[in-house]
Amino acid sequence: MFSEAELIEIEKIKKRYESPQSSLLPVLWMIQEKEGWISKDSMSYAAELLNIPYEYVLGVVSFYTMFFKKPKGKFHLQICTNVSCMLRGGYELYKYACKKLGINKEEITSDGMFSIEEVECLGSCATAPMMQVNNKEYFENLTFEKFDELIEKFKKEI
Ligand code: FES
Repeated sequence: MFSEAELIEIEKIKKRYESPQSSLLPVLWMIQEKEGWISKDSMSYAAELLNIPYEYVLGVVSFYTMFFKKPKGKFHLQICTNVSCMLRGGYELYKYACKKLGINKEEITSDGMFSIEEVECLGSCATAPMMQVNNKEYFENLTFEKFDELIEKFKKEI
């Protein structure tokens, strides 16, 4: 799965930590960056690479919502519904987004463009309600109108 250069990077990561288990998070992150999600085959690969049990990798991948267990759309939308966002319309925004895109939790639109997920606090409570896209970009103080504008913007980026 990994190129020669990426394997060198993995070796550097391994040297940073005392145990191979501690290298797992950055290795899984690299896999997700490359593949878009983490399949069972990828988990086996990571386990082999670090010489740790598959079950340990499975446990870590299952625990963290930042690791995707299924393929996602080109734009994966994570809408926070934790307390601050909930109080400022996070649930309504999530329901609105699902209806607008015609998908539910962890589904992908038929054109492969969008997938959606409800998530816990992403640390941007002061600018609630908010949404993270592709595990990278934050969009804050959202309204239905702002959400609509973002969807149109994303469609043009393809
Ligand atoms: S509650 Fe939504 S970012 Fe903290």
